Amino acid sequence: MSFDLVFFGGTGDLTWRKLMPALFQAFRHGKLPEGGRILAVARDEQTDERYREWLKERFQEVEAGKRPNDEEFARFSELVHYRRMDLSQPEHYGKLKEWLSERNADTVVLYLATSPHLFTQICQQLGAAGLNGPKVRVVLEKPLGHDLASAQEINKVVRSVFDETQAFRIDHYLGKPSVQNLMALRFGNALFEPLWRRESIANIQITLAEGLGVGTRGPFYDSTGALRDMIQNHALQLLTMIAMEAPSSNDADAIRDEKLKVLRALKPFTAESVARDVVRGQYRAGSVDGKPVPAYLDEGKIPPDSHTETFVALKTEIQNWRWAGVPFYLRTGKRLAARDAQIVINFRPVPHPIFPGSSCPNRLIIKLQPEDGLELQLMANKGGSSTEALSPVSLDLDFDKAFAHTRVGAYERLLLDAIAGRLNLFVRSDEQEQAWKWVEPILNFWKQDSTGPRTYVAGSWGPPAASALIARDGHSWIEEC
Ligand code: BG6
Repeated sequence: MSFDLVFFGGTGDLTWRKLMPALFQAFRHGKLPEGGRILAVARDEQTDERYREWLKERFQEVEAGKRPNDEEFARFSELVHYRRMDLSQPEHYGKLKEWLSERNADTVVLYLATSPHLFTQICQQLGAAGLNGPKVRVVLEKPLGHDLASAQEINKVVRSVFDETQAFRIDHYLGKPSVQNLMALRFGNALFEPLWRRESIANIQITLAEGLGVGTRGPFYDSTGALRDMIQNHALQLLTMIAMEAPSSNDADAIRDEKLKVLRALKPFTAESVARDVVRGQYRAGSVDGKPVPAYLDEGKIPPDSHTETFVALKTEIQNWRWAGVPFYLRTGKRLAARDAQIVINFRPVPHPIFPGSSCPNRLIIKLQPEDGLELQLMANKGGSSTEALSPVSLDLDFDKAFAHTRVGAYERLLLDAIAGRLNLFVRSDEQEQAWKWVEPILNFWKQDSTGPRTYVAGSWGPPAASALIARDGHSWIEEC
């Protein structure tokens, strides 16, 4: 199958940091279909050769194990081409069309790795140039919109040019092997299904914690914040996978229909529940991994009075028969104590304890990163005496070790799926809009709330109010118990 893959934003950070390295990995693993061409387009005037040299230099900044050697780069770069394009000029799309029709590949993937404010313009121009035929797919990078109205506006334009089956909306978390394993855990095993409900589960916690700060993305991040950056997309996608009913097949729409039902069943926020159940925070100076780090307000190009949240913790519920009454706690933040993404399923305690001492309820920890694995915490007798208190023990499964040779990175997986036309790991427009609808009351409340975010020390687990939020229900975050 021949393909042409075009990166709009060909000299941007996303292209050289994530997309080109991911394609190179696919190439190195022999997974990139034969007969492919990769075209980077951007504003600068340069030749294929110059772009390839630039790309080779950029690869030096990629983590060592993922860098090509000279011979590998020489072979890979034969696939890579460059064309100058001014995205506001219709005739430049005409030239792109000519370039693509020279060889008439089986599949054309147009990847919009540009600033999202250009998405509608690019899609309209692609439509006007006739670059939206049935073999064309368009890939849209997050963030898709800033709120419900802007997401709807982008989707309206995308739908007026492309069929929904041609639109590949990226949430890179869906490409992570650990996240795909969530589907396998739930729907490839019968073991947990009878327990996966309100009768057995006390609460569920989703944590997406980062040790890093905002780095060089200050201005972008300051207009975004943690709710839009991580909760509206990554955390809610994980929540849907945990809470959805079994789809009738492994087809994209069967899965996405079920995810959408979960999003629709999320309890809507009101001003009162936002004030009670949502905590926003912003980091002060502190230390992460033993190194001092500055406060958010002292990061580059952040306004001194910024109220942008770098941390969010919230409690929600899913209003259906399976989950009624089970709290779902979500939290994310920058400059937290560790890079740690995990989902914790806390089961209910035994109904009638017969052993001495206190007993910890069973817990299933789905580790997404840095480790990728499953840990099931049980109670066991150490074998000393029949009257001794039980001790917690763990069944631990490390997927990285078990499947080290077959693991594929998120972008590699998503790019290969986009080329192959598999939509399972991409977000449908109605899912995305529903997620915006759900976060919007929080955004509106914050707009009017002049108190701003609570502060937390960089390197901690967020403001103390996040612990109080969960303690109120008699629960605690995993690191607190
Ligand atoms: C991105 C956010 O979507 O996800 C970033 O914009 C965040 O702010 C990143 O750092 C986290 O991704 P990962 O794969 O490193 O957990």
